[in-house]
Amino acid sequence: MNDKIESAPHEGRSFAPPATFSETAQPSAAALAALYREAAEDHSGFWARQARRNLSWKLPFTQGLDDSHPPFFKWFADGWLNASYNALDRHLDSRGDKTALIFESDEGTVQRYSYRALHAEVCRFANGLRTLGLHKGDRVVIYLPMGPQAIIAMLACARIGAIHSVVFGGFSADSLRDRIRDAGARLVITADAAPRGGRLVPLKDTVDAALAAGYDTVRQVVVYRRNGAAIAWNREHDIWWDDVVAGQLAVCEPEWVEAEFPLFLLYTSGSTGKPKGVQHSTAGYLLGAMTSMQWVFDPRPDDVFWCTADVGWITGHSYVCYGPLLNGMTQVVFEGVPTHPDPERFWRMIAAHQVSIFYTAPTAIRALMRNGDELPRRHDLGSLRLLGTVGEPINPEAWMWYHRVIGNERCPIVDTWWQTETGAAMIAPVPGVVAAKPGSCTRPLPGIAVDIVDEQGAPVTAPYEGGYLVVNKPWPSMLRTIWGDDARYEKTYFGQFGKQVYVAGDGAHRDEDGYIWILGRIDDVLNVSGHRLGTAEIESALASHPRVAEAAVVGRPHEIKGEAVLAFVVARGERHAAVADGLAAELREWVGTRIGAIAKPDEIRFVDGLPKTRSGKIMRRLLRTVGRGETITQDTSTLENEAILGQLCAAEARASAAA
Ligand code: PRX
Repeated sequence: MNDKIESAPHEGRSFAPPATFSETAQPSAAALAALYREAAEDHSGFWARQARRNLSWKLPFTQGLDDSHPPFFKWFADGWLNASYNALDRHLDSRGDKTALIFESDEGTVQRYSYRALHAEVCRFANGLRTLGLHKGDRVVIYLPMGPQAIIAMLACARIGAIHSVVFGGFSADSLRDRIRDAGARLVITADAAPRGGRLVPLKDTVDAALAAGYDTVRQVVVYRRNGAAIAWNREHDIWWDDVVAGQLAVCEPEWVEAEFPLFLLYTSGSTGKPKGVQHSTAGYLLGAMTSMQWVFDPRPDDVFWCTADVGWITGHSYVCYGPLLNGMTQVVFEGVPTHPDPERFWRMIAAHQVSIFYTAPTAIRALMRNGDELPRRHDLGSLRLLGTVGEPINPEAWMWYHRVIGNERCPIVDTWWQTETGAAMIAPVPGVVAAKPGSCTRPLPGIAVDIVDEQGAPVTAPYEGGYLVVNKPWPSMLRTIWGDDARYEKTYFGQFGKQVYVAGDGAHRDEDGYIWILGRIDDVLNVSGHRLGTAEIESALASHPRVAEAAVVGRPHEIKGEAVLAFVVARGERHAAVADGLAAELREWVGTRIGAIAKPDEIRFVDGLPKTRSGKIMRRLLRTVGRGETITQDTSTLENEAILGQLCAAEARASAAA
């Protein structure tokens, strides 16, 4: 069994929500109990009632869950609706003038959009996309900086039934090309170049490089003029965003789609070298984003919500683009990074925009914590009432700092566990009811049937005993398949315990109060700064370098990033020559151009061979132990070449001596 399901940190502290918070928070204890009861009695009916109450339907559905062909589940299948209508149009009468977005650019300029203004922009762009010849079902790759245009582009696609696939601006040309090809995109939407943390990200150049070998299915590239940077212009394919919207009407009849119609694809790393195009449905996804927002963030009409994630990740889809807008909230959208121009940026922005709900990643908290208490204390953070974290386990020390210094000991913290595949938060405290424990995401939300099972699929009942985290019943916002690869979907998520049991790929245990603690990935996927990276992806990038014979990648703990990328590389020729002539630096850059800067190995160790079993399997668990600098306790008697062991550890000794 993987080492991620054995270790068991114990954390005794518990923090009940302050009475002043609980008194008015929704759902209340009684309301939450009723939700759990209702869901337990009738899973499908529970979600059907939520879907009727929360979404606006063009044509109402008659059936909740259709599980006749597991694991290909359908929800509300005969209903029709439109995602952008649900996010925008239905608010126009009641809160058309309410601020939807407060955008702060990297440079610090602020721009506001009311719901009415955002609706108009989305309609104009949607009409423009139709004029370009885009139809229902066409795929559109969005490669934009974080900002209103990304949201407008996503909603405009949804409005005309085009399927968006946002690619994070940090991905390289190679990664972008792979995603464009796999999705068979008709259109790419990008910007000339955008500042991020004071540096210019050359988005259009990267798109050009991605398409250099041929446009394949891509008909056009829409370019938003973000800052007037000089770019190459391809007259046949390129068109300015301004020209797309010029003369277009600010109203646009939505394309009504079936509930199960794909709303978007989002590529994420798995345990093979090829990223997976996670496919989400329209109605089920929207319902998950909407209800989880209500249960976890207690939204109120005067809240200012700020989720710091980029729309290039699932968190930015569910809690920047869809969740807040579906719930008619006001939110901050930020183009930049927490440390630019200085590490006070977040705190200054919270004070300036009177943010009341703040949702960020443990990595950001750890990085900012390093600068001490003084910086946040310079700012009035009194508007905050609720804090959240997502993306990776939060260590108790960072949790306590967040609680004490940012929340001033009066803001509940919601630690939300979920995944690109789950679409919405799954395990998280309902803040007015459930006491938090630093490092635990607490309990599943209503209608989410999470369990922890052993190798045979039997429930693990003993506290602190590790197992596989699974979801036993389909839920509306679950992925529907992997784009173009039903077999991989079935094998990856439903291959271990049958077609009804979704395997999350995380190890977990419960404590004596039934609280869930996530122990980390068990499937050769790393979590670096809250971002998923497949070790196989990085390995194949390394192995494609002419001077690399073989490579193995593992994670090792990192104080800020959670996990760091450690690569063991067998170089062609002399190992010492490889170290001496700067091959490590070259390989880091190589991985940067193959995948993106986030995947660059933090450390590369050159070895003469990799530890393998007699059947030729790389002993990753052993490498992880070596990477952590721990004593090897695993059985190494099956090692083909035991001499390697001394070398890996010698490399370890050298590395720590150098550090
Ligand atoms: O290992 C879990 C970790 O992030 C993985 C999902 O990554 P991704 O699809 O990129 O989505 C991240 C944002 C939802 C999970 O399999 N993870 C996510 N949230 C938590 C977490 N680990 C511990 N605690 C969390 N709150």
